[in-house]
Amino acid sequence: MTEVLRWGIIGTGGIAARFAADTALLEGTEVVAVGSRTAEKAADFAAANGVPAHHGSYQALVEDPAVQAVYVASPHPFHAEHALLAIAAGKHVLVEKPFTMNAVEARTVVEAARKAGVFCMEAMWTRFLPHMVRLRELLAEEAIGQVLAMGVDQGMRFKQDSEHRLFSFGLGGGALLDLGIYPFSFASMVLGQPETVRASATPAFTGVDGTTSAVLTYGDGAHALITCSALVATPMGAWLAGTEGRIELSRQWYTSTSTLTLTRADGRTETFAPVPGLVEGKAKGMKFQVAEAVQRIRAGERESSVMPLDETIAIMGILDEVRDQIGLEYPEA
Ligand SMILES: NC(=O)c1ccc[n+]([C@@H]2O[C@H](COP(=O)([O-])OP(=O)(O)OC[C@H]3O[C@@H](n4cnc5c(N)ncnc54)[C@H](OP(=O)(O)O)[C@@H]3O)[C@@H](O)[C@H]2O)c1
Repeated sequence: MTEVLRWGIIGTGGIAARFAADTALLEGTEVVAVGSRTAEKAADFAAANGVPAHHGSYQALVEDPAVQAVYVASPHPFHAEHALLAIAAGKHVLVEKPFTMNAVEARTVVEAARKAGVFCMEAMWTRFLPHMVRLRELLAEEAIGQVLAMGVDQGMRFKQDSEHRLFSFGLGGGALLDLGIYPFSFASMVLGQPETVRASATPAFTGVDGTTSAVLTYGDGAHALITCSALVATPMGAWLAGTEGRIELSRQWYTSTSTLTLTRADGRTETFAPVPGLVEGKAKGMKFQVAEAVQRIRAGERESSVMPLDETIAIMGILDEVRDQIGLEYPEA
């Protein structure tokens, strides 16, 4: 029988709870501990989410001998620090998106993981969903020929509250790092590294970016049009136009409920509907990325070919360029 792969979680927020719930849907892996900055929050989270052990510091969590892999679920300005903490303790790491605040931090984490010989991956859960697997297959077989244009948006109207993480400079708020990371990562998956980036933004009431749009152009002449917003709910669809057809991903393109429609040049269409049993939103969607991490760790691999570390660094570099163009600066990042 295969040994159970045991996770510890850093942080007790919304996504940490979701990770615990989704990991519980998998065989052969489990969340065995949670760490918080306060003992009480750790205990509450453990009780609410069925986690056996809890720790009143992140250091104690990473030092827990039962923990083999750490899921970093703190706000992104702390991802690098917390990932490095886990790596220094010899633990594998799955780091929430965006992986870090910038490319320099991303490179530091990746180099540390490679030196320590531990598995490391950005938790870009969307890439592991069944419709994304199908999309990569279609692209590999050139079902729509050469992709020369694509569009993707991600916008939600969040409560306009300066206390909310999403609007706080100190917690890495703004549309780009929180939401934009998904469409930028998606464009990278489809078209690779852009040659040029042109971005514009409108600030939210706190000064972080409220809506950011970008046009990326590629060496073969392809364009990617991206919009992300924390001010308005956009359609949240995606489309790819190729020389021999197009592919559309219905709302919400980045979740397990999106339907993929392929339209070939002659007008024939094929759809790839959501896998039965997957529910609305992220629930039962994160399990695919956890399954990937578990499989790679078991195989003795140090990264995933679906979300490679060098690509994570490159994507952070693109976000750095966008931030530079729109004048989005964070304390110490
Ligand atoms: N994959 C997804 O779909 C998804 C969805 C939402 C968010 N995320 C990402 O996950 C990360 C966490 O987001 P979230 O929505 O879970 O945030 P959240 O609800 O605000 O929780 C963040 C947790 O981080 C810990 N933390 C450590 N230092 C902190 C600080 N200085 N201020 C506040 N909290 C701090 C806190 O746990 P303790 O107080 O217990 O230490 C807190 O509960 C972000 O990077 C975000 O981009 C991903």
